[in-house]
Amino acid sequence: MSNAAWFARAQEVIPGGVNSPVRSFRSVGGTPYTVLRGSGAYVEDVEGTTYLDFVQSYGASLLGHASDIVIEAVDRTVRNGSTFGAPTPGEVLLAEAIVERVPGLEQIRFVSSGTEAVMSAVRLARGATGRSTIVKFDGCYHGHADALLVAGGSGVAQLGLKGSAGVPDGAVADTMVVPYNVVPTLSDDVACVLVEPIAANMNLVKPREGFLEGLRAECDRVGALLIFDEVITGFRIGPGGCAAATGVTPDLWCFGKVIGGGLPVGGFGGSREIFSHLAPLGEVYQGGTLSGNPLAMAAGLAVLNSVDAQDYATHTNRVGTFGRALCQAIRDGGLWACVPQAGTLLGLYVAPGGSSFSAPSNYAESKAIAAADAYPAFFHAMLRRGIALAPGAYEVMFVSFAHSDDDLARAVEAARDSAREVSETRSAS
Ligand SMILES: Cc1ncc(COP(=O)(O)O)c(C=O)c1O
Repeated sequence: MSNAAWFARAQEVIPGGVNSPVRSFRSVGGTPYTVLRGSGAYVEDVEGTTYLDFVQSYGASLLGHASDIVIEAVDRTVRNGSTFGAPTPGEVLLAEAIVERVPGLEQIRFVSSGTEAVMSAVRLARGATGRSTIVKFDGCYHGHADALLVAGGSGVAQLGLKGSAGVPDGAVADTMVVPYNVVPTLSDDVACVLVEPIAANMNLVKPREGFLEGLRAECDRVGALLIFDEVITGFRIGPGGCAAATGVTPDLWCFGKVIGGGLPVGGFGGSREIFSHLAPLGEVYQGGTLSGNPLAMAAGLAVLNSVDAQDYATHTNRVGTFGRALCQAIRDGGLWACVPQAGTLLGLYVAPGGSSFSAPSNYAESKAIAAADAYPAFFHAMLRRGIALAPGAYEVMFVSFAHSDDDLARAVEAARDSAREVSETRSAS
């Protein structure tokens, strides 16, 4: 059955044919490929076409698809049962591994998604401070909880929705949205400031020098809690995440993606003192049937144990070299490009040749580049050459540890040809 036939069939029984909107290709047009299998840096669709994959489950797969390390851990674990509703050693081992690696983090509670992690961290922050107001940044995405969708990037941005229908005014009444990279002046009713320490849902926007330090100081001034949403950056940019990379220690961390090795997971961490407010110790309730799921715990632990600080450093260098070559190739092909790097993450901004943008420092600047509307054509030109980028201009590129130097060189050549094709088509029309 073809991609088109699977997608038509999916649309009959799954809303829009997808279980998460960005997968629908709505913002780039066309029919999504339906994945049959993945291996390392590659995915294969139902028509037998293979793609060099820079989506990597939006950052959940650090080692690439179907890594032996993950397969072995899941296989060994599932034979003993997949969920019990009782404590298991696996969750202790993963919690210890995270506590060991992230400076300042003393405890972590596991959940089943990044959305749940952030939602729970915010509830804990409100419960611990006895305050209601949340401050979030324009273009940062923190999952699909009611209070946090407002002015979110990622899929919300791609669909052009400000927040979502079905969210009552009351749910967002205590959410304040401010521009990224500007330290807001807080009032003393603020419970928490929630931030992606490297913003990776409005394409890639790096924190300006002093931004995170400024947030820390302003939170301390008014007694608000600082929450780092490291669902993307955690264990992707390095073993200690942004706290280790910047020296700025938040009060609460949110994790997901990499810590589950590609299985459903989330986690929120902080100090013992803050967690004394969380049930069963304290008055803030949070729980979950599948929380701390043994399969996710085993897969996540295996992934974390398979890489060390040196591996991340080497990977960061490789990603940097690739990013610079990619940017140059797109420019050589006649489009404007900017490929910012933050650790192992790469942004990918493309616009018509002759544009005079610079690297965005906030959502408005990122949106201006997306509005120039070169990304959809570039995306499809790359896809035709067997390179799968994210189907939307607000995502980042995920280079897994399985991407070889040859893979990256191939992507650079494809980008040069794709840019040439897109710019020639544009000037012909
Ligand atoms: C920074 C950030 N926070 C939270 C989430 C939500 O995680 P999930 O999709 O696992 O619910 C995402 C998802 O992409 C994310 O990028």
